[in-house]
Amino acid sequence: MYNPDLTIKKDPVILGIESSCDETAAAVIRGRRLLSDKIISSAAEQAKYGGVVPEIASRAHTDAVDEAVTQALKEAGVTVNDLDAVAVTYGAGLLGALLVGVSFAKALAYSLNIPLIAVNHIRGHMAAAYLQNAELKPPFVTLLASGGHTAILHTQDYSKFKMLGGTCDDAAGEAFDKVARVLGLEYPGGVNVERLASRGKNNINLPQALVKNSEKLQFSYSGLKTAVINYCHNAEQKGEKVNLADVACSFQHAALDPLVKKTVACALELGVKTVAAGGGVTANGYLRKTLAESCKKAGLSLVLPEKRYCTDNAAMIAAEGLIRYNLGDFAEMSLNAKAQIPLI
Ligand code: KG4
Ligand code: ZN
Repeated sequence: MYNPDLTIKKDPVILGIESSCDETAAAVIRGRRLLSDKIISSAAEQAKYGGVVPEIASRAHTDAVDEAVTQALKEAGVTVNDLDAVAVTYGAGLLGALLVGVSFAKALAYSLNIPLIAVNHIRGHMAAAYLQNAELKPPFVTLLASGGHTAILHTQDYSKFKMLGGTCDDAAGEAFDKVARVLGLEYPGGVNVERLASRGKNNINLPQALVKNSEKLQFSYSGLKTAVINYCHNAEQKGEKVNLADVACSFQHAALDPLVKKTVACALELGVKTVAAGGGVTANGYLRKTLAESCKKAGLSLVLPEKRYCTDNAAMIAAEGLIRYNLGDFAEMSLNAKAQIPLI
């Protein structure tokens, strides 16, 4: 069992494990330096079914977790005996999928007598920025846009956040996935919408994903998704040919422009100098370009993780693990996986 008298090291070696959806991932960090990062994905298998099938995901994790961890340790040039802690995603996500990573991490931490760290997957997405820029320190504004969350937060400290705005219905990534289906694109939807949009024009009038006349900063994606469906149906009924690339491009603008605009506005209003971003949607090339341009124009520095660290990975889990390690926030061996957990 983990020894409570353990001294907190300055640059601990932490193994991160991620298995919340369709990527089995393992990564090793030493302090804020990423030593290795391995991802074994079942996305191609899932694509045959048009989305993630939980049972297939769990089986794929069971097959891949040992290999992902073994390769991550090898690439990092360390052995299990060099590890100071094991950090694992315990939620939110698919229960059966999460349980594979959690069980593996528990067994490893127990056998090595080192701390087990329970990581909230979404907090992991937000922590990816700390590996991208080892000098990054709060306070800053975080744009979080993933498959399940869309939020702008004031990151006041490593583990202290204030929600500045969020979605009142669907998440941005969810909207990309739904619109992908309407446009007849394969899973994974987001990246395929982006590809199609790059060949189109922003020439269709769609509602922006921002709730107008609201006292709070709120985004809404469900109306935008319905507008895309209606546009396609109306054109079909009139026998008109729909330019799918133009629909994708116009949707991308309506979905992402307000996020970029409001993130920059929040940072200026709070007087913080830095913006960070995370989550699968921040892998979108158009968002990355416009966010970078807008931050530059506003005199803000931007910490945007490489695309690989915006979508699911274990480096971000190790990064959030480091934050919890420094707080001495260790999990019990009774840790269980959770399908839902609050963001903050
Ligand atoms: O952050 P993530 O792993 O999801 C959660 O943890 O919830 O990201 C997955 C989401 C999906 O909804 C996917 O469609 C979206 O991110 N996504 C993208 C892109 N790549 C992934 N959305 C727009 N453009 C992309 N290039
Ligand atoms: Zn994720």
